[in-house]
Amino acid sequence: MRHLMSPLDFTVEELDKLFNLANDIETNPKKYAHSCDGKKLATCFYEPSTRTRLSFEAAMINLGGHVIGFSDASCSSASKGESVSDTIRMISCYADICAMRHPKEGAPMVAASKSRIPVVNAGDGGHQHPTQTLTDLLTIRSLKGRLNNFTIGLCGDLKFGRTVHSLIHALERYDNISFVFISPEELKIPDYIIEMLKEKNIPYKEVIRLEEVMPELDILYMTRVQRERFFNEEDYVRLKDFYILNKEKMALGKEDMLVLHPLPRVNEISVEVDDDPRAAYFRQVQYGVYARMALILTLLEIDIDSL
Ligand code: CP
Repeated sequence: MRHLMSPLDFTVEELDKLFNLANDIETNPKKYAHSCDGKKLATCFYEPSTRTRLSFEAAMINLGGHVIGFSDASCSSASKGESVSDTIRMISCYADICAMRHPKEGAPMVAASKSRIPVVNAGDGGHQHPTQTLTDLLTIRSLKGRLNNFTIGLCGDLKFGRTVHSLIHALERYDNISFVFISPEELKIPDYIIEMLKEKNIPYKEVIRLEEVMPELDILYMTRVQRERFFNEEDYVRLKDFYILNKEKMALGKEDMLVLHPLPRVNEISVEVDDDPRAAYFRQVQYGVYARMALILTLLEIDIDSL
């Protein structure tokens, strides 16, 4: 039985297989419509979500399965003091696979250690968000045809943004990737990631001004400032509008650049950018469903050759 806690839980070859499956699902959705008949997904969300929870649920329904779960810890017995370890023991009796989001880093890992069913980390604190990374990689691969030879700019809250941390870990395994970290001083990428890149001789640079690096980017990955992880509101208010991607800044970018964003967006991308053909963040949401469908089939070890 396999869990997914980090994008590194899959080798590059396994990811290729998963993305091929996701692309086949996109092309032939009917083929997979009953592949999870009788199976149940539990979505245990101790933290708010729109995309991750609903795309997991849509994914399981698209595969013919059913969904149970909670979207708010206050509606679950966590509010009475039940531990994650005990909760997953219960969920193992009710469902075949579980997607868990939790504000505490490592909570899905604790659940996985006690679980009799596959557990997927659907975001743990400021740590990792591996299914967003599957979504991001599938989007890039589908729209660009490759996952190597890119300069990728990651912009915004690089300190608390778990999607950024997971994406860097996943992308550093591909050839000729260079990273440009664009953030205010207070929201810089954590030191442990910089150390990892140095150890692996992966090129990176850190800048404050987005305009300075726009012309060199193949992909621009925007992120919102993570209000829920700040210790005081004053700092959040000071930093929340540090970056606003608008038409003027887009004019500095390459013609074939992709703009991605895990969403939700707050102010960091002006709505005037939405109609730019390079804005791929809403297409990214659709790829999230295919990525999660492929993940569910893989973790449940469904025999897709027999479909
Ligand atoms: N991208 C993402 O994780 O969105 P939600 O918080 O809405 O799930």
